[in-house]
Amino acid sequence: MEKIYLDNAATTPVAREVLDAMMPYFSEKYGNASSIHSFGTEAKEALEDAREKIANKLNANPYEIVFTSGGTESNNLALKGAALSNRKKGNHIITTKIEHGSVLKPCKWLEKLGFDVSYLDVDEYGLVDPENFENSIRDETIMVSVIHGNNEIGTIQDIDEIGKIAREKEIYFHIDACQSFTKTGINVETQNLDMVTINSHKIYGPKGIGALYIREGVKVDPLIHGGGHERKLRAGTENIPGIVGFAKAAEITTPGDVEKMRELRDYLIKRIINEIPNSNLIGHPQKRLCNNANFTFKFIEGESMLMLLDQAGICVSTGSACSSHALKPSHVLLATGIPPEDAHGSLRLSPGKYNTLEEMDYTVVNLKKIVGRLRELSPFK
Ligand SMILES: Cc1ncc(COP(=O)(O)O)c(C=O)c1O
Repeated sequence: MEKIYLDNAATTPVAREVLDAMMPYFSEKYGNASSIHSFGTEAKEALEDAREKIANKLNANPYEIVFTSGGTESNNLALKGAALSNRKKGNHIITTKIEHGSVLKPCKWLEKLGFDVSYLDVDEYGLVDPENFENSIRDETIMVSVIHGNNEIGTIQDIDEIGKIAREKEIYFHIDACQSFTKTGINVETQNLDMVTINSHKIYGPKGIGALYIREGVKVDPLIHGGGHERKLRAGTENIPGIVGFAKAAEITTPGDVEKMRELRDYLIKRIINEIPNSNLIGHPQKRLCNNANFTFKFIEGESMLMLLDQAGICVSTGSACSSHALKPSHVLLATGIPPEDAHGSLRLSPGKYNTLEEMDYTVVNLKKIVGRLRELSPFK
């Protein structure tokens, strides 16, 4: 059997249609979008066409899309850029305890500059309480930044509610939508979003390209200085092949893809919970990303399960300490109240649109065997 890739929340393969769309922009249509000659205008047209396609997916104005090198850079630009540009308004930022490192680390950096950051708690399912958010708003609050679909536990936040409060209190609302983009609807108008981070490599596009939606009028300082590219917010010659690929990837996603991922996810969840004793689903049972199935398996280590699954040709990920090169298990799992010893036994299976039900069967059969084998050896059982 060929290898089974069940780590689509980490990254996805580039879709054939995406690759085909990108190819001409490497060695035929290779102009610099800032050049005035025909090679340049050809690149510029591709750039603006892509901007429009991405904007359409968010119900945004193309002008409000700023291309970046990916989710990490977009989150840095949103957090640091808005904080630095709005220092006169205040020094307070609100975020959550379950953010990706590309939000948490900029927050830590801003704290060193004198900003004050509130990290909101989440409940056992990983949900932020909008009331708790409202109570944490002060006169000096500049913005709130919330991860839309969590990359580890899959929980999707109630951004409609948070957006309403943020708009009423006149603070900027940023979401990190790297995991949710194209998987669940995002509408910058109806959801009162001021900034949205998205990237390409989670949606069958190339790596190293992403965007930040910045609502017109929202004040953000650039982090990368140079030419006047991207509304003077992100200097550097635009990565046209990457941008074309990103837009194509966004364009070709269908509700059918989402439905298929959901079916695979639900099949995995049902079989694993029913057939493997002492396995628990992490994250919200309903409000969750279509491609996220994450479990804890008591008495054993995620790392060992991961290695043995890999030997069986199945690639997954874990929130266990060793695999993330950290001493503590995942901050996200701990924030939901999972005890550290259980967090060490977590496994994330993330199906994608190219996976099949047969692959899920093969995975469950092997996982059952591996969990059984490891438990026999476990001193904790
Ligand atoms: C929720 C979330 N935010 C940000 C990122 C970072 O994106 P990128 O890999 O494009 O820098 C990722 C991907 O790892 C992610 O899952």
